[in-house]
Amino acid sequence: MAPSKASVLGNAVLLLSALAGAQEPDAPIFYPRSPPAYPAPIGTGKGLPEWSEAYSKAQAIVAQMTIAEKGIRFGLYSSAFPAGVTIASTWDDELAYRRGFAMGMEHRGKGVDVQLGPVSGPLGLFPEGGRNWEGGGSDPFLSGVGLAAAVRGIQDAGVIACAKHYIGGSPTRAAFFGFKNIWNSSGSVTDFGFFYFTMQPMNKGESVIPVNQSISSNVDDRTLHEVYAWPFADAVRAGVGSIMCSYNQINNSYGCQNSELMNGILKNELGFPGFVMSDWQAQHAGVATALAGLGKELELPRQDPQMSAMPGDQVFVSGNAYWGANLTIAVLNGTVPTWRLDDMATRIMASFYKVGLDKDRVDVNLDSWTTDVYGFENWFAKENYRIVNGNVDVRGTHATLIREVAAKGTVLLKNNGSLPLGRVRQIAVFGSDATDNPRGPNGCPDRGCADGTVAMGWGSGTANFPYLISPLTALQNKAYADGTVIQWVVDDWATTQMKSTATQAETCLVFVKAQAGEAYITVDGNQGDRNNLTLWANGEQVIKTVADNCKNTIVTIHAPGPVTMEEWIDHPNVTAVLYAGLPGQESGNSIVDVLYGLVEPGRLPFTIAKNASDYGVELMYEPNNSYAPQQNFTSGLLIDYRYFDKKEIEPRFEFGFGLSYTTWKYSNLQVQKLNAGSYGAFNGRTPAATSGNVTETPDSLLFPTDFHQIPYYIYPYLNNTSDGLEGNGTKGPSDAYDPTGTPIRPAGGAPGGHPGLYDILYQVNVTVSNTGKRNGEEIVQMYVCQGEEDDPVRVLRGFRRISVDAGGTTNVIFTILRRDISRWDVVTQNWVISSATKTVYIGRSSRDLPLSAKLE
Ligand SMILES: *[C@@H]1O[C@H](CO)[C@@H](O)[C@H](O)[C@H]1NC(C)=O
Ligand SMILES: *[C@@H]1O[C@H](CO)[C@@H](O)[C@H](O)[C@H]1NC(C)=O
Ligand SMILES: *[C@@H]1O[C@H](CO)[C@@H](O)[C@H](O)[C@H]1NC(C)=O
Ligand SMILES: *[C@@H]1O[C@H](CO)[C@@H](O)[C@H](O)[C@H]1NC(C)=O
Ligand SMILES: *[C@@H]1O[C@H](CO)[C@@H](O)[C@H](O)[C@H]1NC(C)=O
Ligand SMILES: *[C@@H]1O[C@H](CO)[C@@H](O)[C@H](O)[C@H]1NC(C)=O
Ligand SMILES: *[C@@H]1O[C@H](CO)[C@@H](O)[C@H](O)[C@H]1NC(C)=O
Ligand SMILES: *[C@@H]1O[C@H](CO)[C@@H](O)[C@H](O)[C@H]1NC(C)=O
Ligand SMILES: *[C@@H]1O[C@H](CO)[C@@H](O)[C@H](O)[C@H]1NC(C)=O
Ligand SMILES: *[C@@H]1O[C@H](CO)[C@@H](O)[C@H](O)[C@H]1NC(C)=O
Ligand SMILES: *[C@@H]1O[C@H](CO)[C@@H](O)[C@H](O)[C@H]1NC(C)=O
Ligand SMILES: *[C@@H]1O[C@H](CO)[C@@H](O)[C@H](O)[C@H]1NC(C)=O
Repeated sequence: MAPSKASVLGNAVLLLSALAGAQEPDAPIFYPRSPPAYPAPIGTGKGLPEWSEAYSKAQAIVAQMTIAEKGIRFGLYSSAFPAGVTIASTWDDELAYRRGFAMGMEHRGKGVDVQLGPVSGPLGLFPEGGRNWEGGGSDPFLSGVGLAAAVRGIQDAGVIACAKHYIGGSPTRAAFFGFKNIWNSSGSVTDFGFFYFTMQPMNKGESVIPVNQSISSNVDDRTLHEVYAWPFADAVRAGVGSIMCSYNQINNSYGCQNSELMNGILKNELGFPGFVMSDWQAQHAGVATALAGLGKELELPRQDPQMSAMPGDQVFVSGNAYWGANLTIAVLNGTVPTWRLDDMATRIMASFYKVGLDKDRVDVNLDSWTTDVYGFENWFAKENYRIVNGNVDVRGTHATLIREVAAKGTVLLKNNGSLPLGRVRQIAVFGSDATDNPRGPNGCPDRGCADGTVAMGWGSGTANFPYLISPLTALQNKAYADGTVIQWVVDDWATTQMKSTATQAETCLVFVKAQAGEAYITVDGNQGDRNNLTLWANGEQVIKTVADNCKNTIVTIHAPGPVTMEEWIDHPNVTAVLYAGLPGQESGNSIVDVLYGLVEPGRLPFTIAKNASDYGVELMYEPNNSYAPQQNFTSGLLIDYRYFDKKEIEPRFEFGFGLSYTTWKYSNLQVQKLNAGSYGAFNGRTPAATSGNVTETPDSLLFPTDFHQIPYYIYPYLNNTSDGLEGNGTKGPSDAYDPTGTPIRPAGGAPGGHPGLYDILYQVNVTVSNTGKRNGEEIVQMYVCQGEEDDPVRVLRGFRRISVDAGGTTNVIFTILRRDISRWDVVTQNWVISSATKTVYIGRSSRDLPLSAKLE
C-alpha cells in the first residue's frame, strides 16, 4: 500500500527532527542549539545575470546524468601569494583583484578547477589566532571588499573561487579539539590524523583533555549578520562559485552540517547559487550533511596522489566515506531525495560553466604533495608511477605584482623623519628576521618554523617559495649599487657584536618577527595560535640593544598580526617603525621599496593594542569542557576597534592607521541624499522539486565491468545490487519534502541578499589635497555612526586608495548603501534603519576623522 502523503510527511518530520540536533540525542546543552532549516533550497540562476546561462547548461547536463555520475570530481590545488593580511593592509581593492586574477591564472595553468581561497573566516577576533593572516583583516566591511575583489579576480581567470571558512572560525587549535583521530576510544591521545599527511611526528599538546566534539562558536543572530556573515554576502554577490564550511560547530551544530547556516542563511537568505564544500575531516555525517545543504565532500585533484580520496574519508586514509557509495545508497533507499542530489550536481556544474571551465580547461599537471617530477599518481595505493609534476611555469610576471602588493601593504607606524632613506653612508642590519633560513626557504614542512625571515605563515594555506629575497639580500644589493657601507649581525643573541656594530652605523635597520599558523604544526610551543603577542627570537632585546647604541634605529616587523610594542616604541632612538606583515617571495625587494620611498605604504587592517588584554577577548588554549568546548562570542558586534572605541581604551595604533610620506588635507564634505525605492520583506519562493522518485535500479549503479578500483579512492559505485536495498527496499520519503518550494526569507531575493540592500541612499563627496612636497598615496576612509545605544560607535563603510601628486587635489566620491546604515532586526529577520540620527565621518583612520556630517 502506498503510504499516504500525511504519513510520508510525518516520517519526514521525524527524520528531520532527528537530524536537526547534534548526532547524539543525550548530548548536554551548553547553548541554544542551531534550529533546523529544511529543505535545502534548490539553486537557481536568478538575480545575477551571469549565473543564468550557467544554470541552463548545468540543468541540461545534470538531467542526463546517472546517480553515480552526479558524484562529480574536481581538481584543486592550493597556492599562495603574499598573505591575506598583507593584501588587506594595502586597502586597495583593485590590487586585490589583480592578485586574485594572478593567483587564478596560476591555478588554471596547473589544471586546477577550484582554488581554495580567498579567506575571510576567522576575521581576527582573537589577535593570537593562528590563521588570521590568511584572512582580510579584523573588520567585516574591509574583509568583504577584499573577498569580493579576490573572487572576481580568481573567477575571471577561469577558476572557481572558494570563500572560506563558513563560519565563526575559532582559533585553529580549538578547531581541532575533538578532531576525530586525536582521541582513541579510551580517551588517550593517539596519532593525529595529519601525521599521515605531513609525514612528520605530531606535536602533542602539553596538557590534553579528551573531548568528544569540536569547539562550538556560539554567535547571536545580530552579530552573525552584521559581522561574520557580512563578508560572505559580498562574496556571494560577487558570484563566488563555492564556499567551504568550517571545522568548528556553530551553536553546537557542525559547520558542514548546520542546516540553518547552509540552507537557511547562505542559500535562502543570501541566495547563494554555488556549492558548499567541506574541509578535510570537517564532515561528520552523511545523510545529515546532504540534507543540511552540503554540496561536496572535499576531494583532491584528479591526479593528486596522497590525498586523492582522503578528505572525504571518515577517518584519514581509511577510504570509508560518508558519501561516495553511501550517498548512492542513501539516494536509492530514499533518505536523500533525488532532487537534493540533482541540486548538488547542478550547483557544481553551474559554477563550472560560470567560470568557463567547459571552454578552457587545462589538464592537471601538478602534485602539490611532492616536488618530485616522477611519482605515484596514487600515492597511498602506490599505483600509476608517472610524471606527476609537469613543472609548468605559471608564474608569468607575477613577481612584479607580488612586490607591489607587499610594499603597498607595509604600514609605516612611526616616523620621526628618518624615512624615506636617502643616500646613506653606512647602514647596519640586525636580527635573524633579516636573513635566509639556513635550511632554505622551504626547509620547514608547510613553513612550520620561524627561522630566518618570516614571509608566510605556516600550515595548509602555504605555498613553496620559488625563491625568497631576504631583506638583507635586497639591502646588500641596494648598498652595493649606492656605494653604501653595509654590515650585519643576524644572530639574535650576539649582544656584544650588535652593540659594537650599532655604535658605528649611521642607520640601523632592525628586523624582528612573530609567527603563527595552523594547529597541526607546533613551533616553539605555539600550536598554530600564538601564545602571546610579543616578539619571537629575542626581538625586544635586539631592538633595545641596537637602539641603546644607535641614534637612528628603524624597526621592521614581520608578523601575522598585531604585536605589542610598549617596551620599545617610545625609545627616542627608535626613529621609525614598519609593520610589514607576511610579504611573500619578494620580501626584501618590497621593504627596500618602502624604506627608500619608492612606494607609499598601507594602513593597519587591525588594531595594535598597548596590552594583549585590551582586546577584551580570550583565546581558548585548553578545552573548557570535555564534551564540546564552548566559545561564546560575547564581544558581539564589538570586534577590534569597535571594542576599543566603545570601551574608550586607547590603542597604541588604531585600525586604519598608517603614516604617509607626504601630508594630506581633507575639506569640503558634501552629502547628497538620493531617491531610493522603499524596502520591505522579500516575497517569493524557491523552485519546487521537480524530481523525486529514483528511476534507476541498483544494478545500473554497479562498478562498470573491468573498472580498476584504486585503494583509498572514494567511488560512487556499488559492489552489490543489494547495497541499495537496506531497510525494506521501499523508497523512503524521497519526494516528501515540501514539493512546492520554500518561502524566500524576508532579507533574501538575490545573490548577496535582498536587492534593496544595495540601493544607494547617499552620495558623499570630499576633497583631498596632497599638501606635501612628494607625490603620494592616501587611503581615504569613511565611517558611519548608526546612533543607537547598542550600535558600535562607528563602523567602516568605505575606503579608497588614491594617488595624488605633490600639491594636487582630488575629489573622492563614496556611496552609502541601505545595507551600510541598517541593523539586523532579529524579530522581523530583516535589515532595518533605526530612527536614531546617523553620522558619516571621513578621515585617515578609525580615530583620525576630521570631517563629519549628519545623514538627513
Ligand atoms: C555561554 O552562553 C550560555 C548561554 O548564555 C551560558 O549558559 C553558558 O554558560 C556560556 N558558556 C560559557 C563558557 O561562558
Ligand atoms: C545561535 O544562537 C543564538 C542564541 O540563541 C541565536 O541568536 C542565533 O540565531 C543562533 N544562530 C544559529 C545559526 O543557529
Ligand atoms: C589509546 O592510546 C593510548 C596511548 O597511545 C594507548 O595506551 C591505548 O592502548 C589506546 N587505547 C585504545 C583502545 O586504542
Ligand atoms: C559507508 O558508511 C559506513 C558507516 O558509516 C562505513 O562503515 C562504510 O565504510 C561506508 N562505505 C563506504 C563505501 O565508504
Ligand atoms: C539509507 O542509506 C544510508 C547510507 O548508507 C543509511 O545511512 C541509511 O540508514 C539508509 N536508510 C534506510 C532506510 O535504509
Ligand atoms: C612569546 O612567544 C615567543 C614564541 O614562542 C617567545 O619567543 C617569547 O619568549 C614569548 N614571550 C614571552 C613574554 O613569553
Ligand atoms: C641613543 O643613541 C646614542 C648613541 O648614538 C646613545 O648615546 C644614547 O644613549 C641612546 N639613547 C638612549 C635613550 O638609549
Ligand atoms: C562522549 O560521547 C559518548 C557517547 O555519547 C559518551 O558516552 C561520553 O560520556 C562522552 N564523553 C565525554 C567526555 O563527554
Ligand atoms: C513518485 O512515485 C509516487 C508513487 O509511485 C507517485 O505518486 C509520485 O507522483 C512520484 N513523484 C514524482 C515526483 O514523480
Ligand atoms: C567494494 O569492494 C572493495 C573490495 O572488497 C572494497 O574495497 C570497497 O570498499 C567496496 N566498495 C563499496 C562501495 O562497498
Ligand atoms: C518500509 O520502511 C519504512 C521506513 O521504516 C516504513 O515507513 C514503511 O512502512 C515500510 N514499508 C513496508 C512496505 O514495509
Ligand atoms: C564633488 O564636489 C566637487 C566640488 O567640491 C565638484 O566639482 C564635483 O563635481 C563633485 N562631484 C560629484 C560627483 O558630485
